[in-house]
Amino acid sequence: MSKKIIVANWKMQLDYAQGLRLARDYKKTLKDIKSEIVVCSDFLTLPLIAKVFAKTKIALGAQDCAPASRGAFTGEISAADLFRLGVRYVILGHSERRLIMSESNELIRLKTEISLQEKLTPIVCVGESLADKEAGKTKEVLLAQLKLALKGAKIKRAADIIIAYEPIWAIGTGEAIIPLEAERIHRFLKDQAVKLIGLAPRVIYGGSVGPGNAINFLQQANVDGLLVGGASLDAGKFARLCR
Ligand code: PGA
Repeated sequence: MSKKIIVANWKMQLDYAQGLRLARDYKKTLKDIKSEIVVCSDFLTLPLIAKVFAKTKIALGAQDCAPASRGAFTGEISAADLFRLGVRYVILGHSERRLIMSESNELIRLKTEISLQEKLTPIVCVGESLADKEAGKTKEVLLAQLKLALKGAKIKRAADIIIAYEPIWAIGTGEAIIPLEAERIHRFLKDQAVKLIGLAPRVIYGGSVGPGNAINFLQQANVDGLLVGGASLDAGKFARLCR
């Protein structure tokens, strides 16, 4: 089994004192983990946990970034500044941002371009709604999102970008996709990425992953890792999931 990447998405679930405590717990419990671990906290907590993870193998990720490196962007955070802080990954186009903040595919494409330029590895989220799935439109929706996110992207190595497949209906619901079904969709996304950018990026799965089902996903050849929300808020649970 090749080395998998496991990304913790803490969302906006913790205040920064709780985030700091969780980071210290991660440092203790994740010492012997073989997978690559990335922790994506909220922006305010990032500088604090950067110090906790400084001499560990745990990498830092952001949950979003601005669609430009510098300029008149009130309320935004620059990918360049995130990189300087030690952040190496950034989640883009999470369905919560697409739905609650009305993020468009074009905005996500711009953010992908800027992140690559600033040497952050974008983790671009794609996923279908329950209505799309029931209408048999899963592949069509995923392909449209992938095409628009990668349009014109200058990607030199497959490792420079990660695609996260997150069916919207599986996020935070306790109802994950069947691992074999995820494998089939990941294969599809990789094949399509090869057609679009000439490279096969890693494709990770997210949506109701916990210690009980993580291994079933990680055993699939084309599931290169996991994006974990709820189960990443408890260091013990997260460590069990990574093992
Ligand atoms: P969940 O969230 O693990 O709580 O379902 C995943 C995500 O939104 O990235």
